Amino acid sequence: MSAPAVRHADLLRYRDEFPLLDASVYLNTCSLGARSERSRRRLDAFLADWDELGARAWYKRWLGELDGLREDFGALIGTPAAEVTLASSVSAALAVVASALDPIHRGKRATLEHLAAAGVAAGSGPRPRVVTTALDFPTIGHQWLARAPLGVELVVVPSADGLTVPLQAFETAIDDRTALVATGHVYFTTGARNELRPLAELCHERGALLLIDAYQATGIVPTDVAADGVDVYVSGTLKWLFGGPGTAFGWVRPSLRDALRPTTTGWFSSARQFAFDVDELDLAADGRRYELGTPSIPSAAIARGGLELVREIGVEQVGERTLDLGDLLIRLATDAALDVRAVRAAAGRGGIVPIAVADPKPVVDALAGEGIIVDFRPGVVRCSPAFYNTEDEVRLLVDRLSAHVPAQDRRIS
Ligand SMILES: Cc1ncc(COP(=O)(O)O)c(C=O)c1O
Repeated sequence: MSAPAVRHADLLRYRDEFPLLDASVYLNTCSLGARSERSRRRLDAFLADWDELGARAWYKRWLGELDGLREDFGALIGTPAAEVTLASSVSAALAVVASALDPIHRGKRATLEHLAAAGVAAGSGPRPRVVTTALDFPTIGHQWLARAPLGVELVVVPSADGLTVPLQAFETAIDDRTALVATGHVYFTTGARNELRPLAELCHERGALLLIDAYQATGIVPTDVAADGVDVYVSGTLKWLFGGPGTAFGWVRPSLRDALRPTTTGWFSSARQFAFDVDELDLAADGRRYELGTPSIPSAAIARGGLELVREIGVEQVGERTLDLGDLLIRLATDAALDVRAVRAAAGRGGIVPIAVADPKPVVDALAGEGIIVDFRPGVVRCSPAFYNTEDEVRLLVDRLSAHVPAQDRRIS
């Protein structure tokens, strides 16, 4: 990718917003994005409102903050705020969605007819299977493994090259008993990116739904969930949204959302939340239908600081710079005879660049001792430069990696 240099220089102005960038050479955004001063100001405002207003802060400020959060998330994926579901983690969002899919697994006639009427493909018989991949984050598989006592079967598609899962591999795994394909937009270990639209088309041709875990993509990969044909999208603020822990979100295609009823629920999903009816459950006809209980307002405040930044700069610009720095890292590391395990084409990856090292932990520790922060997964040092990093920081990383990884440890296959 070739973005004008002036744009890159403009982005570096934002470094002042992130204290962590003074404290270290921080190249680990895929684990935890740095925290901005905007997040601190918003957190301070939350505390001040609490002290000044007590419970009135809910109505005067905090419910409005939650609406703002929905707006922020919706803007990132091309949907209205009302379609967004707030959650405390991707796992929590997935658990609610998984509970709503049970009638599809069991082939409950009324639900299938309802789905067909809503134009959502689900076939006519039971669909007990959920397809995921060996490269996906464990919480995806775990949601449906936990439902094995209900008859749900998890099918895990292997990755032949250890880096990607091609469309043909999904094609082989999906059959007329598959309810759902649940996979990542960008894989958390390899950084490989799936193209959403062909995957969605494949799923729908077979009568299956597509769920995308976009935790490693939201904020750096421009996305329009409806146009891409995604049925369920989940993500969170911890990484490329610079929004810290405690805030995640989901989106369920409206026709599907309203045709299903989650059985894992909470009072924030009620259509009349503040009527306080204990004996009636009328689920909301918007994204709140899949919510649970009281959200963490301090987390929301911190998250909104990061989201404000990403929206101000724009996902396209942030993403372009992130991929450019990834390109530079891949090129320099390859020149230094390090074993880069990333997809080379920028369009086929996100912000993660794994470098194979037989025993990565001591290397990551040695780098940390020099103030260079990356992390590791089995067999790889996981590097993830973000828009706020400099090219010199990437050069330094490659230089020090070369010094710390002995030649015999560089290729493990
Ligand atoms: C792709 C992906 N999915 C999910 C998660 C975690 O989700 P949760 O919010 O449930 O902790 C992560 C990272 O922590 C991730 O990288």
